[in-house]
Amino acid sequence: VKAIHDIIIGSHALDSLNQMLGTERKETCFIITDHGVAKSCLDYFLYKVAEARDAVIIEIPSGDENKNTTNLIRIWHKLLEHSNNTKPLILNLGGGMVSDIGGFAAGTFNRGVDYYNIPTTLLAMVDASIGGKTAINIENVKNKAGVFALPAGVFIDSYFLKTLNQQHYLSGLAEAFKTLIVGDEVEWKWLQSEFMPGLENLDPLIEKAAKIKQRIVSLDFFDKNVRKSLNFGHTMGHALESIYFSKNQSLTHGEAVAAGMIMELYLSHQVSGLHLDTFIKICSFLNKYFKPIEIEEADIGNMISVSKKDKKNFRGSRFLSLLQSPGKPDVNALCSEDQILEAIKFYRDLYRDDDDE
Ligand SMILES: NC(=O)c1ccc[n+]([C@@H]2O[C@H](COP(=O)([O-])OP(=O)(O)OC[C@H]3O[C@@H](n4cnc5c(N)ncnc54)[C@H](O)[C@@H]3O)[C@@H](O)[C@H]2O)c1
Repeated sequence: VKAIHDIIIGSHALDSLNQMLGTERKETCFIITDHGVAKSCLDYFLYKVAEARDAVIIEIPSGDENKNTTNLIRIWHKLLEHSNNTKPLILNLGGGMVSDIGGFAAGTFNRGVDYYNIPTTLLAMVDASIGGKTAINIENVKNKAGVFALPAGVFIDSYFLKTLNQQHYLSGLAEAFKTLIVGDEVEWKWLQSEFMPGLENLDPLIEKAAKIKQRIVSLDFFDKNVRKSLNFGHTMGHALESIYFSKNQSLTHGEAVAAGMIMELYLSHQVSGLHLDTFIKICSFLNKYFKPIEIEEADIGNMISVSKKDKKNFRGSRFLSLLQSPGKPDVNALCSEDQILEAIKFYRDLYRDDDDE
C-alpha cells in the first residue's frame, strides 16, 4: 500500500480545498464536526470554503467519550438519508476525535468513500488527521474498533488554533516534539536551536511534524514496524493517564506523553544505547515546556501493571518503542519490569523537592 495523501499547509490551504471542491465535486458533500468546533471554527471555514456552504452538516457532541458507537451510527444514518444514492464526499472538520470517528464512518460507508480532514487542533494537525488510522471507543475502551482508511487529502490552516485552549495546545506540542525527535536528527537540532513557541511561529513545526509522520506512515501503513516509533513515550504516558483517570484527576494526553517520554528516555539510555548527553539534552528541552507530574508511591505498582497490558507487548514480555538516538528509533525494545520500575523512580526523583526526603 502506498500510503500517501496530499497535505496542504498554510493560509492558502482552505482556498485550495475550495478550488478543489469547485472543480471536482459531483457528489453530496457532508461536513462532520462537533459542537465545540462548530461554535469556534465553522463560520471561518464556510467563509473560506464557499463551495461547502450547501454541505449537509453532521454535528456530534464534543469530547472523546462521544467517539462512540451511538454517534457512529448517527453519522451512518445521516449519510444514508442525505446521499440519495450518490457518492458522498466527507469533510471532517475538527480535532482528532472528529477525524477518528468521521474517518471511520467514511472508511466503512459504502465500503469506503472519499474524505478530507481539516484539522482544527494542534494535535490533529501534527498527528491524528494524518496517516489514515481511524477508530471509535467501545464502552470506554479506547480505539477498540477502527479501520485503516487514508484521507484523500489533509488541509491545515493554523488560523483555527487562535481559539484553542492552552491545555489542548500543550497536548499537540508534546506529539509534535515526539515526532521530530523520533523522526529526524536534523529536526531535533532545529527544535533545540530555532523553535520558538507561540501561535505565530507554529507553521514550521506543524509542517515538519506532518511531513515526518507522512513519511513514516508511507513506509509502514499497517503499523507493523517503523510506524510503531510514533508510540515513543506512550507506554509510560498511558500508564500515567490511566492512574490519573482512575482517581478522577485531570491530566492531559500531552502532559502524560511528555512525562512518558522522559521515563522512556531513561529506558532508551539503559536499553537502546541512547547517549547520556543526548538523554539529558532532550529531558531538559521537554522540561522547559511541560510541568512535572506527580506520581505517588502507592501508584507505582498500578503503573507497572498497566504497562503490562500495552498493545505492543507479546507473549508476556514488554516491548517499548524507544530511541537509539534522535531520528533512530528502536521499535521493539525489550524491557524488564525492574527497568520500568527504575524509569518511574528516575522520573519521580527528578521532581521531588529535597524537603520531601
Ligand atoms: N488516528 C490517529 O492517528 C490519532 C492520533 C492521535 C490521537 N488520536 C485521537 O485524537 C483524539 C484527541 O484529539 P484532540 O486532542 O484533537 O481532541 P478533540 O478532537 O477531542 O478536541 C478537543 C476539544 O477542543 C475543541 N476544539 C477543537 N478545535 C478547536 C478550536 N480550533 N478552537 C476551540 N476549540 C476547539 C473540541 O470541540 C473539543 O472539545 C483522541 O480521540 C485520540 O484517540 C488519533
